[in-house]
Amino acid sequence: MALNTVDLKPRVGSEIRIDKAELLSGGASPAIRQLLEQRGVVIFHGVDFSDDELRSFGGSLGPLQTTGYDDGAQDALVKVTFDKSQQRAGTAGYFRGTFHWHMDELHRDVPPLASILSPRVLSPAGGETEFANTYAAYADLPESEKKSLEKLTVYHSVESAYRKMIPEASEEQIAEWRKKGHKIHPLIWTHRTGRKSIVNGITAGYVLGMNRRDSDALLGQLLDWATQPQYVYQHQWQMGDLLMWDNTGTMHRVLGYDLDCGRRLHRVTLVGEEPLAVAA
Ligand SMILES: [Fe+2]
Repeated sequence: MALNTVDLKPRVGSEIRIDKAELLSGGASPAIRQLLEQRGVVIFHGVDFSDDELRSFGGSLGPLQTTGYDDGAQDALVKVTFDKSQQRAGTAGYFRGTFHWHMDELHRDVPPLASILSPRVLSPAGGETEFANTYAAYADLPESEKKSLEKLTVYHSVESAYRKMIPEASEEQIAEWRKKGHKIHPLIWTHRTGRKSIVNGITAGYVLGMNRRDSDALLGQLLDWATQPQYVYQHQWQMGDLLMWDNTGTMHRVLGYDLDCGRRLHRVTLVGEEPLAVAA
């Protein structure tokens, strides 16, 4: 079916204008998935989904990841918040790396395909979410650079992310982070569609086979390149919004806000469909 869409920026983001009942019917879901892959992020205004509607709409797009909680419950819905009174026992706690550019769950061989957010409590100031289209950023690289980058692989870990955020960490802290493991990913992801995107962000530790200074410089330059304004959409949240992003072709981050303000968004996440890792 043809969707009624408006581009948010020329290279990233579309708003979809659709009736809520039609959205929930699932009839538009294949077209929405296709648009998401092309545009990196899609938004809907005034949808005002309940938790059940969020689960149901997410499920119409593909299988959802579930989280197991200490009370034995399994749920696809995750509360994204720093408000401890809202977090369920068994959740790992909200990752501070969210304030830095990243892709979700790069510790998996098959990272999640996409996530969908529905706001419950918004911050009075800040808290905008930004998305950078890493397909578009790759497409604009000089051809000679594309060729050399495609050969490179990168060590990703939670430890790498924390080391950047907490440079003075103790040996004990570092040992704790290291337990979370690592993955080697290609710097350039060739998707099964043939399209290519850059894989980078706060979890990127170093480029294999490159000295540390050159590796830091390269990853830093590529991050700056991919987060130029033409590739980035900044979402200013309103209650009732629904937003989804393609985790395989974008990076995202949240802009700062008061951590005590109770900001809370509910999220469901689509299971990944395509492996990224090139080695154990
Ligand atoms: Fe994230």
